[in-house]
Amino acid sequence: MTPGAQSPMALAFDLSFTHTEGRWNVPGSWTGADYPDLHMFTELARTAERGGIDMLFFGDGVGIPDTWENSADAAVKWGISWPRHDMSPIIAALGQATSKIGFGLTYSSTYMHPFYIARLLNSLDHVTNGRIAFNVVASARTSDAANYGFDQLMNHDMRYERMEEFIDVCQRLWDSVEPDAIVRDHTTGIFADPAKVHRLDHHGKHFHVRGPLPSVPSPQGKPVLVQAGSSPRGIRASAAFADIVFGSGGHHASQKRHRSELNTALQNAGRDPASVGILWAIQVVLGASRSEAVARREEMLGMLPMEGVGAYLSYNTGFDFSVLPRSFVLGELRASIVAAQGTQSGFVDRLISDRGAESRLSRDEFFDEGWRYSTGYDQTIAGTASEVADEMAEQFEVTGSRGGFMISNPLRTPGAVGDVVDYLVPELRARGLRSDDYVGSTLRSNLLGSSLQK
Ligand SMILES: Cc1cc2nc3c(=O)[nH]c(=O)nc-3n(C[C@H](O)[C@H](O)[C@H](O)COP(=O)(O)O)c2cc1C
Repeated sequence: MTPGAQSPMALAFDLSFTHTEGRWNVPGSWTGADYPDLHMFTELARTAERGGIDMLFFGDGVGIPDTWENSADAAVKWGISWPRHDMSPIIAALGQATSKIGFGLTYSSTYMHPFYIARLLNSLDHVTNGRIAFNVVASARTSDAANYGFDQLMNHDMRYERMEEFIDVCQRLWDSVEPDAIVRDHTTGIFADPAKVHRLDHHGKHFHVRGPLPSVPSPQGKPVLVQAGSSPRGIRASAAFADIVFGSGGHHASQKRHRSELNTALQNAGRDPASVGILWAIQVVLGASRSEAVARREEMLGMLPMEGVGAYLSYNTGFDFSVLPRSFVLGELRASIVAAQGTQSGFVDRLISDRGAESRLSRDEFFDEGWRYSTGYDQTIAGTASEVADEMAEQFEVTGSRGGFMISNPLRTPGAVGDVVDYLVPELRARGLRSDDYVGSTLRSNLLGSSLQK
């Protein structure tokens, strides 16, 4: 690529689950350090920055999974999706150890208040000098709900309605102090221009916020906005405000469907479909040879016992799969999940797209497939750097060459992150899919500049 040219393919690491679902116990992982050791995260951030990675991303969930058998015991015992710390102080520290890589963090619009989040993200954008993204989630998990005083999940579509109002309030708070409002005139003693600092007086269905934000505008003005929900209503929310979408990857048919539904929703919202990319989740295991990588991937099958799989799947769907009968029809299972206000995407959606809604499955078949899904085995591409780069280039092309990848859930921490930087990134650069260095100083310019039409 010519110097200064934008990378066509955005690249981020999702480090949400480096230590859960048995990864903490994989030989060579977290050696000599325990989550949430700051030195480990600092090493990961510096390594990723050495490879020109656009963003380190942290999803979140605030409850210990307890959907399976209505108990947290299995999740506690096997370390399923817990422990999880609030990453904002850790990101503030990582911002001081790096200068170019960005950071994505997650908060729930169902449980948090937009005033608090708008103010927090403004401060983090200052501390990192313009390198923050906000992944807003609707939260599909009952254990999260219970920690914020709800005994059941809020209606699925209502969560998205609330999300849209939440983001609207945040946007207006970030705009409430104009970029040149702060004068700091030492001669007159005037600090700021009142004509450029605005109240919101927002009175909506879910929030009442007077404003303005009592903060100095941040380097990016507002964080990069990310949204992952992929039901029809979730996609409509993405189309309303997302700068970039986080999508479940590894399955060309559902990826193409997600891309095409997002295109339609963006058009309906009056936005250009070419202006919003999708970061597809991808899991990779690299090796010097294909056989070495495949052997490493086999380690994943020993990571989780069946009880852990049940806890993982039930939590992520918002539906207790321990009650499954010996045999059932997939479409009927989906209807039960919808009735329970669970997520309409994910594992069951994938089964339906592979087998059809009319298919009948036994309970054993369901958990056997669920085991390979929960460990990430099925979704993991094992191969040499060149083979993995081939697959990424193909996925990128079939989904419209917009956005890029969220390399998720490294099997060994920190070694797997180093492998991507040292072996995979050079392959992508050689194909012209990545530039040799960061092209801008903010996360917005690096992550969104890539393949998108502005
Ligand atoms: C790739 C991906 C990443 C997600 N990350 C999170 C997360 O970190 N925390 C969370 O609470 N929900 C997360 N979700 C859940 C979504 O935000 C959403 O609540 C869920 O998918 C249900 O909405 P839907 O029915 O529109 O898909 C994620 C979903 C996807 C597909």
